[in-house]
Amino acid sequence: MDYEIAGIVVALLLWAAWAVSTERRHRQLEELGRLPPGPRPWPVVGNMFQLAGSTSAPHRSFAELAGKHGAVMTLRLGSMTTVVVSSDEAARAMFKQHDAVLAGRKIYESMKGDVANEGSLITAQYGPQWRTLRRLCTAEFFAAAPLDAMRGVRARCIRQMLQCVRDSAGAEADVGRFFFVMAFNLIGNLMFSKDVLNSGSERGAKFFYHTGKTMEFAAKPNMADYFPVLRWADPQRIRRRTQFHVKRAFDVAGEFLRERMSEREELDEEEKKKDYLDVLLEYRGDGVEGPAVFSSTIINVIVFEMFTAGTDTTTSTLEWAMAELLHNPNALQKVQTELRTVIGTGEEVQEEKLEELPYLKAVIKETLRLHPPLPFLVPHKAMESCKLLGFHIPKETQILVNAWAIGRDPKKWKDPHEFKPERFMDPNTAPDYKGHHYEFIPFGSGRRMCPALPLAARVLPLALGSVLHSFDWVLGGGVKAAEMDMSERMGITLRKAVPLRAIPIPYSK
Ligand code: HEM
Repeated sequence: MDYEIAGIVVALLLWAAWAVSTERRHRQLEELGRLPPGPRPWPVVGNMFQLAGSTSAPHRSFAELAGKHGAVMTLRLGSMTTVVVSSDEAARAMFKQHDAVLAGRKIYESMKGDVANEGSLITAQYGPQWRTLRRLCTAEFFAAAPLDAMRGVRARCIRQMLQCVRDSAGAEADVGRFFFVMAFNLIGNLMFSKDVLNSGSERGAKFFYHTGKTMEFAAKPNMADYFPVLRWADPQRIRRRTQFHVKRAFDVAGEFLRERMSEREELDEEEKKKDYLDVLLEYRGDGVEGPAVFSSTIINVIVFEMFTAGTDTTTSTLEWAMAELLHNPNALQKVQTELRTVIGTGEEVQEEKLEELPYLKAVIKETLRLHPPLPFLVPHKAMESCKLLGFHIPKETQILVNAWAIGRDPKKWKDPHEFKPERFMDPNTAPDYKGHHYEFIPFGSGRRMCPALPLAARVLPLALGSVLHSFDWVLGGGVKAAEMDMSERMGITLRKAVPLRAIPIPYSK
């Protein structure tokens, strides 16, 4: 025991000495004008104290600091050097000039497990494994042809959501919950043709529980990320807990996989379903690089990542869109008038009609500008040293792109904090979110940009348009539009701190 304590003390002293010398080296680099400027760090803890209390809104604290120190700013989070990019010019320089070198991923402790990084797309470093999975996703999951082929699946999931809303008609309900169940079942159907949440199956409930817990623990700030000496101890038990739930979720995904494999043995070629799981099972290499077949571990990881990447982002955006519309009754009236003029009463909003609903699409864009679900994108990492706008970015630096601050930059946006979908109505001047207009990058830009953008661009307006076309909505608890609490809570995505509660009232002319 005494030896153990002595060991910890020695480790702490060695680490403190290392941290102080690294700190000194960083300060020298900064004084030489090489590292991007930033608030003065303290020895060992860096800028942690300046950021204390900002866990619910780090994007806001970082934006405030960037106002003082610049659009490319260094922060020291314990021993983790972080560069925060906070303007469209800096984002342009990053994605146009240094996209490949800054396309690494910062891997947090919670993600470090036995299996999670094998087969990962989100957390893979930029390299052959990532390229193989990315090509597959882009071509087989999110290209126009497979998306068109799965139009019926999306329509069915939206219909089920509308039925859930109808069942709650006249009563106050958690609006985000309708969207979450829809998004979860949609990914379940795209992946393995199952309503994971509606089936009442124990397996579905287990998968849902462990996926949710994984995201909950992975979103917690973890001291072990900032102080490497604590890694082995995992003092908040975040890595152990996250990995526990990851493994349980993989076990369930494995059951779905085994079931499908035995089903497939009994079927003729034409009878086989064509969902994403089949695509993964039928994969025989792409002739360029990577494996010739996917192991069951790789398949489990892909299944798991689609759920984690796709459900919270979709839910957050749709809940914020409804909240902003209820907070801005004129915009609500405008979008409902558009919907009810273009789509007849009693008819469904169909994907084919989205082109005729420009205001609805503008509402989605304005929501993503004000409330990007991933305000820092997914953390990038410098794989090699490089120079960004003349500043030295050391290898291994974490790069956070503050898409939230960029979307509210007063130099680029008039009335930046106001919800005005009209700003996206002129197709000649309005930016789109495809990653080339750096003032508006809710899906990121460059190589690591969200591969599912084409799916999200269909599902978001379809889901929002459907609930607004079929129902009128009244705020719960007698809250008035102007009094709504619009504060944010940072988790795995940026959610509304107080869940939106509203009463759906079926619309009939
Ligand atoms: C509102 C909807 C969504 C938004 C705003 C969004 C946004 C993003 C962003 C900002 C990134 C990181 C970009 C970067 O690191 O530079 C990302 C990555 C990713 N997203 Fe999305 N996303 C959405 C929906 C989805 C959906 C529905 C799926 C899957 C079904 C998905 C799958 C992924 C994957 C797999 C990655 C990792 C890509 C990589 O590392 O190469 N996303 N997304």
